[in-house]
Amino acid sequence: GKDDLDLYHQEAINIAKIAGKLVRDAFYAEKNIDTKDHKTDLVTETDQETERIIKNHFKEKFPPHSFIGEESVAGGEKCNLTDNPTWIIDPIDGTTNFVHKFPFSCISIALAINKELVVGVVYNPTLDEMFSAIAGCGAKCNGKPIKASKNATEISQALLITEIGASREQDRINGIMDNLQKLVLEPYLARGVRALGSAALNMCFVAAGRADAYYEFGIHCWDVAAGIVIVKEAGGISLGAAGDPVDIMAREIVCAGSEVLCKKICSALTSIPHVRD
Ligand code: IPD
Repeated sequence: GKDDLDLYHQEAINIAKIAGKLVRDAFYAEKNIDTKDHKTDLVTETDQETERIIKNHFKEKFPPHSFIGEESVAGGEKCNLTDNPTWIIDPIDGTTNFVHKFPFSCISIALAINKELVVGVVYNPTLDEMFSAIAGCGAKCNGKPIKASKNATEISQALLITEIGASREQDRINGIMDNLQKLVLEPYLARGVRALGSAALNMCFVAAGRADAYYEFGIHCWDVAAGIVIVKEAGGISLGAAGDPVDIMAREIVCAGSEVLCKKICSALTSIPHVRD
């Protein structure tokens, strides 16, 4: 019920603040950097420590709940979404930014129940912005309601956000560059394209009306789960690249302040295949 969701949301905010302090304290300190599948996919001790703290918090508060966490999956755990209440966690979304002291990283926490996303919390500790939403109750930034922009109905009126992502296979990069080129040239003529380095924060920027749309191929469920709730509750929409309902395991997302713009971007894009989460 609604009271349960309020409690889950509050606990997600509580632990995001605690985790945020950890990330903020580590931000300007010396870091031990490691890589994962790709040389360009970074991880630090803070990512792992932060995930541990968040998981332990929920394990203590809500023992029957399940988890999908970026670093647990990197450590060999299954990325399996069941009907059981499941916390989907990215302890630091924007790890490369974190490593380089670019102040655009966040803790991203979502809760899915019966595979429906019901709570989303995204906290940028360096800029102290807490984005959050409960399904059906609107989205907020630092406690104030936010609304996605409906101003752009054409790509030519839109400020877009996208990312290159971590893997650098030539075919994949060609696909990314072809899409980008198409969107910035006539007839689409996007007003601008930003690549800020955190999928979850990119989505919150769309939710807050600071950009009109964000799309990316190659993202993982933990990058976008919380953002999907926040964008939806701010009046925006998230879709798959073919304009189909968004599937968090499908490694692709297009979100926008309005459905018309979202669908126009989907139509313009050529899909880039990725192995599902
Ligand atoms: C990454 C960031 C980045 C996006 C990648 C993600 P991480 O997440 O969101 O913006 O381009 O696709 O994997 O690895 O920093 O948690």
